[in-house]
Amino acid sequence: MQKIKVVVSDYVEPDLDWEVEQFKRMGVDFSFYQLKAVPAPELLRVIADADVVIVNMTQINEEVLSGLKRTKLIVRHGVGYDNIDVPAASRRGIVVSYIPDYCMHEVAEQAVMLIMACQRKLNQQLHLTSESSLSGTWIFKPIYPLYSISGKTLGIIGCGRIGSLVHKMFQNFDLARILICDPYLSEERQHELGSPFLPLNELLRQSDIVTIHTTLGPETYHMLDESQFNLMKPTAILVNTARGGIVNLEALDQALKSGRLGFAGIDVYEHEPPDRDMAILTNERAICTPHLAWLSEESGWNIRKQIVGDVNRFLHHEGPRHPIDKSVPISFE
Ligand SMILES: NC(=O)c1ccc[n+]([C@@H]2O[C@H](COP(=O)([O-])OP(=O)(O)OC[C@H]3O[C@@H](n4cnc5c(N)ncnc54)[C@H](O)[C@@H]3O)[C@@H](O)[C@H]2O)c1
Repeated sequence: MQKIKVVVSDYVEPDLDWEVEQFKRMGVDFSFYQLKAVPAPELLRVIADADVVIVNMTQINEEVLSGLKRTKLIVRHGVGYDNIDVPAASRRGIVVSYIPDYCMHEVAEQAVMLIMACQRKLNQQLHLTSESSLSGTWIFKPIYPLYSISGKTLGIIGCGRIGSLVHKMFQNFDLARILICDPYLSEERQHELGSPFLPLNELLRQSDIVTIHTTLGPETYHMLDESQFNLMKPTAILVNTARGGIVNLEALDQALKSGRLGFAGIDVYEHEPPDRDMAILTNERAICTPHLAWLSEESGWNIRKQIVGDVNRFLHHEGPRHPIDKSVPISFE
């Protein structure tokens, strides 16, 4: 019987020794490449006859899909899947799956970290430590006013996997209230969360701290822009660990500089990595991290195990855990 062929188009791990071992044990014909940005014919030379393709950043567009001879499953290594033309894959009966839950704790932790770092002005504290040691006396004045987190109102925009974890993590911070804006949660889930649900503008008006955890789409693109910042408290902080396009960062930079907004914590950018002259990167009222909320040793192993697990399911004629278009039946022949 012909072995199942699994090909990795590109990867982020330092090596795939562990995968080689796992697939050998499973009797899979496994090969891997680093073809992140190559023309379709070059990519097809190695993936055209794969049963399963595992993809990180490589573009899987119409041209690539039309050259696949026997692929039944494409596994996206990660949460987003905008590098894969999923509708075109569906039309060809190819199932595309992803790993939406491998790093949700890490992203929630990064959001909590940024909220605390912003509210306590961590970047300015670090600066004052070196200023004080240079001058031989403590200098505190430039950091005033500094606020506590307890007693404040937290607003969560988007309360799915990650937003729900942030909601859970903040239960013991002695907050005044947690407000949620998420028009798509079931009544049952709203009841379970037990916090007030508000329309976006009302949440922005009432919150001291706002954290964003929606997906990016036409409805959420620049969902936070100048007119929304104008609704917020001048002391409010805004944290975005979701997707860059959700916040207009030029308008945010202006709102911070003009004192319309207190502080911001940003992990994600509309174009990545951001241009070196992007104003927000040097704004004293912003803490900018390099889109690595997802990263940890634990999340790295979690995604590797889930991907090998999905291939193992395929070998046993079971579909992947997280197909994107659930209407496409998977074929094993
Ligand atoms: N920074 C990182 O490294 C990193 C890593 C993983 C995920 N993410 C991002 O985090 C975000 C959340 O991921 P998740 O796994 O929790 O997604 P999810 O799909 O579980 O939750 C998203 C929530 O947003 C809600 N939503 C959609 N449109 C909305 C709107 N207009 N207003 C309010 N709520 C809306 C949905 O109902 C859903 O509950 C995504 O944008 C994801 O891409 C970032």
